[in-house]
Amino acid sequence: MKEAVQNLLDTASSEVSGLGDDPKALDQARVKFLGRKGELAQLFKELGRVPEQERREAGRILNEAKAKLEAIFSDALEDSRKLAAGKREPIDVTVPGRVPRRGRLHPITQVALEITRIFNWLGFETVEGPEIELDYYNFEALNIPKDHPAREMQDTFYISEDVVLRTHTSPIQIRTMEKRRPPIRVIAPGRTYRCDSDVTHTPMFHQVEGLMVGKGVSFGDLKGVLTTFVHQMFGPDVGLRFRPSFFPFTEPSAEVDIQCVMCRGQGCRVCSQTGWLEILGSGMVDPEVYKYVGYDPEEVTGFAFGMGIERIAMLKFGIDDLRLFFENDLRFLNHF
Ligand code: DAH
Repeated sequence: MKEAVQNLLDTASSEVSGLGDDPKALDQARVKFLGRKGELAQLFKELGRVPEQERREAGRILNEAKAKLEAIFSDALEDSRKLAAGKREPIDVTVPGRVPRRGRLHPITQVALEITRIFNWLGFETVEGPEIELDYYNFEALNIPKDHPAREMQDTFYISEDVVLRTHTSPIQIRTMEKRRPPIRVIAPGRTYRCDSDVTHTPMFHQVEGLMVGKGVSFGDLKGVLTTFVHQMFGPDVGLRFRPSFFPFTEPSAEVDIQCVMCRGQGCRVCSQTGWLEILGSGMVDPEVYKYVGYDPEEVTGFAFGMGIERIAMLKFGIDDLRLFFENDLRFLNHF
């Protein structure tokens, strides 16, 4: 009897392990071994033929075998459930997690922040002004009267006869001087608009305006501040020059050129073989402008400057197409 039971258990285990995760086959096998007419039941029937004195022991062995068989089948059933679940949704614990994509500042914003950082460090406070501006602040108070030819230099978007989209950040000079008394040191970044669109012009672009007014502010201060700025922005070895120019709101006026960042002054396509690149306009605030804000030109003097942020960004990063800044192609933006 003992042998028959052991045989039964062995065949049951090996049959079950050959069934894999098929629950139907498992059920059939269970009936075959544990069913009412199954193999174990068969052995129980033989119990009657076992000699009286051995019957007790044989019964114990059979009951033990029953428990073992039941365990074999319930374990196998549990395993087949787990296997089936694993097939539906395999879990690979070694797969790395999904890292969310991080955003970053647009290169124009980065350069605007860098410019204002340098001037803040020089004691200039950041201020702002409206993009929809009165003709008065955009032109009139900057010494550009209605019939002035300088208005044609700037292709203005007119909203009405008196209201425009600002064509430069210079109106912030006037708004600041109107509100404050000298000494003044401000830097004003922002969007500007001109009705112009080609390879080197976009209808919306960015400028930074600067203004310093006080007692005894001289052209030497202008040179010192702008030289320091250029060296901070482009490196201490970059040469620069002040070239005489004209703006209605400054007298005298100067444009600042830096040594070409591409060819280091040797002459190339970017600098049209001159070795120099214009980066900003500047000058001593014209006494006419002070009249509009009620300052006494005998009492205070000052200088102003303005620069295009896209231009600075192109030179700093070596980008030759302005339109890249406005297409928002992530392959481009991810470089910065
Ligand atoms: N507003 C000028 C422009 O848009 C730039 C400029 C030149 C600003 C000279 C100034 C300045 O403050 O003094 O072209």
